[in-house]
Amino acid sequence: MPLVPMKQILDEAKKGNYGVPHFNVNNMEQAQAIMRAAEEVKSPVILAASRGALKYSDLIFLRNIMLACVEKYPKLPIALHLDHGNSLESVKTAISLGFTSVMIDGSLKEDGKTPTTFEENVKVTKSCVDYAHPFGVTVEGELGTLGGIEDGVGSGKVQLTDPNQVEKFLKLTGVDALAVAIGTSHGAYKFKIKPDPDKNLLAMDIIREIHKRCPNLHMVMHGSSSVPQELLAEINKYGGKIPPTYGVPLWAIKEGIAAGVRKINVDTDLRLAVTAAVRKFLYENPEAFDPREYLTPARDAMQKIIKERFVEFGSAGHAYDYTPITLEQAKKFYKK
Ligand code: G3H
Ligand code: 13P
Ligand code: ZN
Repeated sequence: MPLVPMKQILDEAKKGNYGVPHFNVNNMEQAQAIMRAAEEVKSPVILAASRGALKYSDLIFLRNIMLACVEKYPKLPIALHLDHGNSLESVKTAISLGFTSVMIDGSLKEDGKTPTTFEENVKVTKSCVDYAHPFGVTVEGELGTLGGIEDGVGSGKVQLTDPNQVEKFLKLTGVDALAVAIGTSHGAYKFKIKPDPDKNLLAMDIIREIHKRCPNLHMVMHGSSSVPQELLAEINKYGGKIPPTYGVPLWAIKEGIAAGVRKINVDTDLRLAVTAAVRKFLYENPEAFDPREYLTPARDAMQKIIKERFVEFGSAGHAYDYTPITLEQAKKFYKK
């Protein structure tokens, strides 16, 4: 079964010069939507579980939903990824559950809020790399901090990544991928004004500079939901109260991909898609009470947006470009 280390998916994305979306998973319907869309457009898959998702699902339920994806879609390369690990312990737990990739967010302390120093970040990130690589597991680190505190992940203070620190960080830690802070934030409330392609929305120069200095690095863009306006309109039409807000436009993400971003994290857009579909269905069918009835359009709505992201980021059509490698093979790579 092609349960692959995430490094392979990103290495291949680099060869093909495309980006791969990372989708957060919390339940069966989300997992099915991701996999159905991936099969439809033939894309490799990064299934990500946050600490919050693992807690919500008592670990074991989400783990088995993710493994069910691998069993049901045996031909698609799939990486199981821990999102925003906050300690070596959280990384150990994910690896014991069978994850093939982990993120250690050493830019924040274990509380997921307080920014760390460069040295503290290096220390915790290196300890995770030293633990994960002998299992063949990929490690994503983070330098700089994102804005946004809605999800309990983030300090609320933006600290853009300093390109001068990147080479040293890579050398000292050995991470396979690096999340960079360029002005995005988690959640739905990213920008108050509609992003203008003629104005600098994100610090793309940072991405370009890092890419120039470290051309082999796989950069990761967190907080990259696009917050589709039609979903907000639908939510509000059917009883929601979401104030005006904007996300990261697809054109900005494509600029990032062209400059070396290989993984793009998306969670909020799926939450908005579910909410819009459920609100609409229940509004139009006030007599309904079978969750399967309203979760079916919710799953379809997620699948639609996921498919769009696979296509727009360029990973569609690349699932069968390569022979999946195992963690055993990755172990040998790291041993060398
Ligand atoms: O990075 C944040 C993701 O959107 C996960 O959010 O911790 O609420 O699951 P969560
Ligand atoms: P969004 O909140 O923009 O979807 O970002 C998700 C994310 O970065 C998960 O790590
Ligand atoms: Zn994130």
